[in-house]
Amino acid sequence: MILIAGGTGHLGRELSRVLAGRAGGLRVLTREPAKAASAGHGATEFVKGDVRDRSSLGPALVGIDVVISAITGFGPGGQGPRAIDLEGNRNLIGASEAAGVRRFVLLSIHGAGPDHPMELYRAKYRAEELVRGSRLDWAIIRPTVFMELWAGIIGGAARTTGTATIFGRGKNPTNFVSVRDVARFVEVAASDAGLGGAALDVGGPENLTFIEVVDSIRASIGLPVRARHVPLSAMRLGAIVMRRVKPDIARLIQAGIVMDTTDMRFDSTALQRRYPNIRLSRLVDILADARLGTNGGG
Ligand SMILES: NC(=O)c1ccc[n+]([C@@H]2O[C@H](COP(=O)([O-])OP(=O)(O)OC[C@H]3O[C@@H](n4cnc5c(N)ncnc54)[C@H](OP(=O)(O)O)[C@@H]3O)[C@@H](O)[C@H]2O)c1
Repeated sequence: MILIAGGTGHLGRELSRVLAGRAGGLRVLTREPAKAASAGHGATEFVKGDVRDRSSLGPALVGIDVVISAITGFGPGGQGPRAIDLEGNRNLIGASEAAGVRRFVLLSIHGAGPDHPMELYRAKYRAEELVRGSRLDWAIIRPTVFMELWAGIIGGAARTTGTATIFGRGKNPTNFVSVRDVARFVEVAASDAGLGGAALDVGGPENLTFIEVVDSIRASIGLPVRARHVPLSAMRLGAIVMRRVKPDIARLIQAGIVMDTTDMRFDSTALQRRYPNIRLSRLVDILADARLGTNGGG
């Protein structure tokens, strides 16, 4: 049986769809099982657990062969990368070892590193170190930025208000990957012996600036959409002001600064050559998909 921690998130919901029919069954760990079950996320079982509380994880891991960790504390209302992406994964890895889990698939992030300016990328790097040092058979998937998330955030507002907000100049080429494609690679990582003890960077086929993303959204909506830029200077000030009062929002603003000012590209050539059966989605494919209305957004 497979356990997805984070099975209610953007990627987790897609993973549940991809893995739902597998022999052995699927269990989703969530803090709110009743809410997840009523949302019909497709998993066969929901179990209550909080990765900050290690004692809640043992019962969830009974009978589990493969654990997929798609948790994060990054995002609006999130408990933060240190609490969830690092310490939460520490608890989940420890509990998985104790429960005799065979394989642990960790969702990290492309560019994770010890000196990255963002706490999320540092926490992911340290979680990678933890899983590498564990007794578990492990695989790490490092996706670039989720396409549906940003298409939903920008596209949703563009549809309702006619305005698309671009954080910063919007001229930095950024790699976006579809959660559908990431889910296929996670499926491979959960089952393929060849990925045991390996990390795989996963990205989409295009590096797009946010100005280009807005152009594509405008074309897909077929209505005029005005682009409104939030200046980097205002974002830098906002990140400092929000750090104490709303650290989750401060982290989001900092992510916007990093995405506008650092190298966010990825070359998918080697990935496509190695996995020709997984066709990497382009932004236009995702925008054309009617599911975006329910799958995208924050
Ligand atoms: N979004 C991106 O662009 C991106 C890019 C690269 C990598 N990733 C990684 O891919 C994975 C999935 O990202 P996502 O955007 O799909 O995440 P998401 O939508 O923000 O979902 C976060 C998930 O974490 C779970 N979670 C948070 N705190 C928890 C806690 N204390 N105990 C148990 N579960 C907790 C939530 O479960 P409940 O609320 O149901 O408890 C939820 O299912 C993450 O590891 C993320 O770091 C994301």
